[in-house]
Amino acid sequence: MEGLPGGKGLNIAHEAVDRHADGPLRDHVALRWLGSEGATRDFTYGELKGQSNRFANVLRGLGIGKGDTVSVLADRIPELYIAALGTLKNTSVFCPLFSAFGPEPIYQRLSKGDAKVLVTSQRRYSQKVSHLMDTLPKLQHVLLVDAEDHLGKGLLSLPRLLAESSEVFSIPPTDPEDSAFLHFTSGTTGMPKGAIHVHNAVLTHYVTGKYVMDFHPGDIFWCTADPGWITGTSYGIVAPLLHGITNIIDEADFDAMRWCHILESEKVSIWYTAPTAIRRFMRLSLEPSRHYDLRHLRVIHSVGEPLNPEAVVWGQKAMGLPIHDNWWQTETGGIMIANFPAMEIRPGSMGRPIPGVEAAIVRRIDKDTVEVIEEPEIQGDLALRPGWPSMFRGYLHDEERYRKCFVGGWYLTGDLAKRDADGYFWFVGRADDIIKTSGHMVGPFEVESTLMEHPAVAEAGVIGKPDPLIGEIVKAFVALKPGINPSEELRLELIGFARKKLGSAVAPKEIDFQPNLPKNKAGKIMRRLLKARELGLPEGDLSTLENN
Ligand code: WT7
Repeated sequence: MEGLPGGKGLNIAHEAVDRHADGPLRDHVALRWLGSEGATRDFTYGELKGQSNRFANVLRGLGIGKGDTVSVLADRIPELYIAALGTLKNTSVFCPLFSAFGPEPIYQRLSKGDAKVLVTSQRRYSQKVSHLMDTLPKLQHVLLVDAEDHLGKGLLSLPRLLAESSEVFSIPPTDPEDSAFLHFTSGTTGMPKGAIHVHNAVLTHYVTGKYVMDFHPGDIFWCTADPGWITGTSYGIVAPLLHGITNIIDEADFDAMRWCHILESEKVSIWYTAPTAIRRFMRLSLEPSRHYDLRHLRVIHSVGEPLNPEAVVWGQKAMGLPIHDNWWQTETGGIMIANFPAMEIRPGSMGRPIPGVEAAIVRRIDKDTVEVIEEPEIQGDLALRPGWPSMFRGYLHDEERYRKCFVGGWYLTGDLAKRDADGYFWFVGRADDIIKTSGHMVGPFEVESTLMEHPAVAEAGVIGKPDPLIGEIVKAFVALKPGINPSEELRLELIGFARKKLGSAVAPKEIDFQPNLPKNKAGKIMRRLLKARELGLPEGDLSTLENN
């Protein structure tokens, strides 16, 4: 990497796109988009530069500048990628929203993220956002990807704006510490937190692209994650482009046959996917390498939830390659611990810290102190020494929550893990109540709050119930208001109510009624106990349980 021309700082989009567009890779395919209906569109580095410049000019023309939030609610369509890169060029902040979110999570994120611009489609706008506009005073412009003409004040046609904008844009001076991405992640208590990432994160993306992903010139890379989650931006946009390789984008959702076909016909050489998808392949007893020509595939990586040792073995048998697990989280911005291609894989382990990252297993002593557990094989909190380039720089409007992540000179990840004598880390579980469903984080509080909005609901407690395919499903326990009787009809109504408000990615799949929910003496619902009872596990320490 070289920094911005004229020594004007470091900008992710310059490093990822313009640097190549202005050199020998100008006509190399940067993005290859596969539409769900069969269409294909290629963007060379030169074209991507022009398109993202146009988007940057659109923002500038609308008076959107440095630090302003630009949100996108869209499927994996080319405009999403162009908007992301154009937003970075304009030194605005890109905030993707997962397209399967319902109006409630969208509202929370647009509002808390101070979004000034929203890029979306007409259908999504009218179904999920239009009725919220009065409560989003900061949202000035909605750019519709599928409107040919402007529809009114603040409701503009993106294709028209792009067509009328110049392909030339000069990136303003960008400090490596300027904000670049805002990614919301779920907490156990309270509403989602907006993790702020800066342009300097590009250093981690570069290093992990090289040493973990193993990117080489000419590679064809496919990251199956949606940019609504950070894997889909750090590795679904930035890292492959930084390395000047071809990045495959599939608009469609999981489909085992389609995925095998893509791996074969696109000659994918490096594949980054998730345990949920791998387990789906395993369940179908598919052996892709027997029926498809996968000779171009060189490395397979997995992230997001524990990768069972059987999955690593399955990879070898069914794909002809082992699967390399790696670990990170929204807050770390990039991969921190990995089974590098250059080292022996330990099936079931997350691997070892990447160069420059110091990880440890620690034990909390008190509010301000932790102790590093030096002996191997002892379970504790997984901690990282702060200071790597892609570390989050804050939770937007949540100083206090940010500060609490750092104790005694360590960043506490919220995960429990062990380290073995050779320095490999092994995931044990979450230290909190966060739910992982299909690799996506769901905060129980967000779901409970929505259920409580229903007039029949007095209390709600939400847990992750283990599921062999998707890791965990969201399960809710509900206590009804006095005089309201549980019924199958009401249960279905609540499921429908939650789905409409939260969207399919977040809403509970199961709801059970209980006369009242277990609470501690402070009145807090004890999710831990709900979960133990659900799983038939020992109920543990009940000393804080309030009689109920
Ligand atoms: C949480 C982070 C993965 C980056 C994008 C999602 C869990 C992540 C692994 C793994 C076991 C994993 C952790 C982590 N997780 N990778 N290889 N093995 N668990 O980021 O939504 O912030 O989720 O996902 O619990 O803290 P995220």
